[in-house]
Amino acid sequence: MSIDYSNIKILPEQANEISNALYNIAGEVKALPGELDFNFRIKTKSETYILKIGRPHEDFEYLEFQKNILKHLSKSHLNAPNIFPDTQGKLISTIIDTDGNKRYVRLLSWIDGRLWSSVNPIKDNLLFSLGAQAGKVTSALKGFEHHKIHRQFDWDVAQAEWTSKHLGLFSTERQNMVSYFQKQFEIFQDDYKNLRKSVIHNDINDNNILVSSELENPEVIAIIDYGDTIYTQTINDLAVVISYAIMNKPDMLSAALPIVSGYHKEYPLMEVELSFLYNLVAMNLVISVTKSALNKQKEPENEYLLISEKPAWDVLEKWMQIDENLAHYSFRNSCGFKAHPNEEAFLKWAKNQQMSLQYFFPAIDFNHIHTIDMSVGSTWLGHESEYNDIELTNFKINRLQTEKPKALFAGGYLEIRPFYSTKAYQKEGNSGPEFRTTHLGVDFWVKENTAIHAPFDAEVYSVYNNGSNKDYGPTLILRHQTDSGIPFYSLYGHLSENSLNLVKQGQKIYKNDLIAYVGNVTENGNWAPHLHFQITLDLLGNTHDFPGVAFPDTVSVWRSLCPNPNLLFKYEGLNEHLKAPHEKIIDFRNNHLGKSLSLSYKKPLKILRGSGVYLIDDTGRKYLDTVNNVAHVGHEHPKVVKAGQDQMAVLNTNSRYLHNNINAFAKELLKTFPKALSVVHFVNSGSEAIELALRMLKAYTKAKDMIAVEIGYHGNTNACIGVSSYKFDGKGGQGAPEHTHIVPLPDTFRGLYQGKNTAEKYAKHIDDQIENIHSKGRKLAGFICESIISCGGQVELPENYLELVYQSVRNAGGLCIADEVQTGCGRVGKTFWGFQLHNVVPDIVTIGKPIGNGHPLAAVVCTQEVAQAFANGMEYFNTFGGNPVSCAIGNKVLQVIKVKKLQDNALIVGTFLKDELLKLQKSYPIIGDVRGQGLFLGFELTDNDKMPLTEKANYLANRMRDFGILMSTDGKDNNALKIKPPMVFTIENAKELLDRLKQILEEDFMKF
Ligand SMILES: Cc1ncc(COP(=O)(O)O)c(C=O)c1O
Repeated sequence: MSIDYSNIKILPEQANEISNALYNIAGEVKALPGELDFNFRIKTKSETYILKIGRPHEDFEYLEFQKNILKHLSKSHLNAPNIFPDTQGKLISTIIDTDGNKRYVRLLSWIDGRLWSSVNPIKDNLLFSLGAQAGKVTSALKGFEHHKIHRQFDWDVAQAEWTSKHLGLFSTERQNMVSYFQKQFEIFQDDYKNLRKSVIHNDINDNNILVSSELENPEVIAIIDYGDTIYTQTINDLAVVISYAIMNKPDMLSAALPIVSGYHKEYPLMEVELSFLYNLVAMNLVISVTKSALNKQKEPENEYLLISEKPAWDVLEKWMQIDENLAHYSFRNSCGFKAHPNEEAFLKWAKNQQMSLQYFFPAIDFNHIHTIDMSVGSTWLGHESEYNDIELTNFKINRLQTEKPKALFAGGYLEIRPFYSTKAYQKEGNSGPEFRTTHLGVDFWVKENTAIHAPFDAEVYSVYNNGSNKDYGPTLILRHQTDSGIPFYSLYGHLSENSLNLVKQGQKIYKNDLIAYVGNVTENGNWAPHLHFQITLDLLGNTHDFPGVAFPDTVSVWRSLCPNPNLLFKYEGLNEHLKAPHEKIIDFRNNHLGKSLSLSYKKPLKILRGSGVYLIDDTGRKYLDTVNNVAHVGHEHPKVVKAGQDQMAVLNTNSRYLHNNINAFAKELLKTFPKALSVVHFVNSGSEAIELALRMLKAYTKAKDMIAVEIGYHGNTNACIGVSSYKFDGKGGQGAPEHTHIVPLPDTFRGLYQGKNTAEKYAKHIDDQIENIHSKGRKLAGFICESIISCGGQVELPENYLELVYQSVRNAGGLCIADEVQTGCGRVGKTFWGFQLHNVVPDIVTIGKPIGNGHPLAAVVCTQEVAQAFANGMEYFNTFGGNPVSCAIGNKVLQVIKVKKLQDNALIVGTFLKDELLKLQKSYPIIGDVRGQGLFLGFELTDNDKMPLTEKANYLANRMRDFGILMSTDGKDNNALKIKPPMVFTIENAKELLDRLKQILEEDFMKF
């Protein structure tokens, strides 16, 4: 029967009248959405309520049922709505509407909060809190009795068999999927029926969950709408919660786990219940899609029904892809049970086994194990280009074998390795890309053709050539069982091709039988020869293959599923590699390293390796580095690394001897400068370069007074700090020294003068300061400024500013220093040096960060006149500056910039990125300003009044880090995000940065 909605609709004014008449409550009224009821929020001066007015012909008994639940819950500590009596003491009141229909009315307390469906992002701690709240609800519902909780109900997962009748509603493909879950559900009925039961909420979905208003780490504060409450298997409740909460998550299993942990914490789950959970999640979705299909049949024109069923199908399809045993083990692990139910029994059995590796490899004569470090930070592995060179790795292993003839080279259980931080091992997790980096077996680095003998009696489960590049190659899997009959499997990977014919599937094998040979590079999947040996308690449905590496955050599950093979061998040195917690390192730093040294990000990173535009942490996760302009030509650029290594091996000494490197480097460096700048002094850091530049300038002018720019930073030494307003005007600073004079930051967005044509106004402050210096009877020594002001927040100087300033400074007899420590070496794209963007030629240029690509190398370039004035008899000696290693590195950096056309790349990629950021600004007005040149960009977060949004900038940087992108904040108010990545940054990298940026700009915390 269709209802004429306009006849039953209640207007807010009517609602207020009804509320006043029934409850003596009137206030500000707002209509709220409701599926059946007409709901209104009523706000009085002191309280807020929700008034629910039913449709005509509502089932009174059903309302009574819900009322009783709320009454029951009000006796618990649970945050649930209260129901209030009308002036006659009735909890369900009656009115007659204008059409003469009887309508039921209820008044409930209002719970302040945000609906789950409106919360973004949903992070693990919120999922945990959801599980915990759901558990609390089940706990609070204990003891509730009403005959309706035993009703027949389509949405009770336990009663889901009804869906089987409607399989015909779906396409064949979907039928296959749905019937798979239905059959599974049918098969386990006998055991499932015996599970414990509870009164459960049964409908904890997006619109019934209230979340606290705290935006950064919100919590679930209440669950509402108890209309679907039912007495059923307790575990069904968790299945319902999971099936809704994991929608739209790229990794659904991983999203489900914190919910399970949270529920278990509040309402301990039983091991047996967890074995059904995977299927029950699916069955709730099967109910949902079947209901949608039936509704669609009733209302074929209703497009909304089509849209609303899609997420459920998506979850179902993705859920089907998850191995159900793995899901089961993961649920167990989340509750603190051993992930694999047989783990304990297997470990007990293994403890009593005496299995010598000598029986395993009878042809090898060894007396100890020598582990080879293949972890992310391993210097044995060396550069990426080295470990990717199989011939070289093989050579290195052979060398080790010759050096240590009595050693067996082995290791790698749970080792996090860098070779897996690649696309092939990558998936999209719930916080960006994740890599399967944790090795699950033990590798034995033995020569090709080494014979392998069976460690135990077994049956051949499979023998197969997993022949793709970087796969296992010929692989043998044996099936064994412990004395008590627990099955387990051993896997032998990277074998020789002739091993494929040595044994046959199903064949019985006895301990010590020859089972295989170690393969060579051409046949073993393209690896240096070795045996990958792994144990697993469950093959997870694999027939001839099995994952040999796992995602680091799932390692506790995999460690249980694939126990350490050394539990059998019991060799010292073959230990598992468990990632050391960061707390200890942090503690040590706090106690013993300079205390004014801060760490980046709320969750500090332990970075162990660099590669191009990426940094790799101790979990093998790759981070796109958009901050580091030191790794100018890319982290650990192989040519630069090699140049340093090669020269280091031959000579490194001071520059008082003749050497070609210093001349060659100086020559190449000077080629990048205007002719007037033709003398180089090599030093070791930006600070040292500035320090020297200041000495030069003072030697030349015989004056001390400097003009510097507000929020400029020029280094950490005494004299550098003395011209760095960023420091002396910042925390712990004591203001400008006597001889330093600060001019305003020429920031055309939020500075003293805004917009175009402000150069003259800003430059006028230089004249004022010169006058000020003269008024004290002193002379100007000079002016120091970056070509784009970095710590100030990537502030571009207004057009003509430098020209005007240089003129004034020079007229007053001063010299001009261009600090290119941040901006130099092609980064700004259009020109090689930042000052060249401004048509000026400084007297002194300081160069730092990029020129050594991470090696401590810096330089001061100046005119002949300045150099001459500085050479006043006092020798300038620098122990390390200009040494052959540093010069070899610096020269190689210049060469790579040139050969790889990195300046052009900075221009192309930088322009693309800046344009896209400007587009983004249109959709996200929180981006107040976008600025910079080439790959030296920045954007500032401000409100509509240009007020800085510091906390949001900080949040953004930390969230980007969560998603695998490194950014940092700076500027006077720390509200500017800096983008100055290695110059090998590509358009693809820029797109990745923009995508994530967009995603995070959508998050609740970023709204203003
Ligand atoms: C513009 C500028 N000048 C000088 C320095 C000092 O360089 P260093 O840290 O190598 O001593 C820095 C360092 O951040 C800088 O940004």
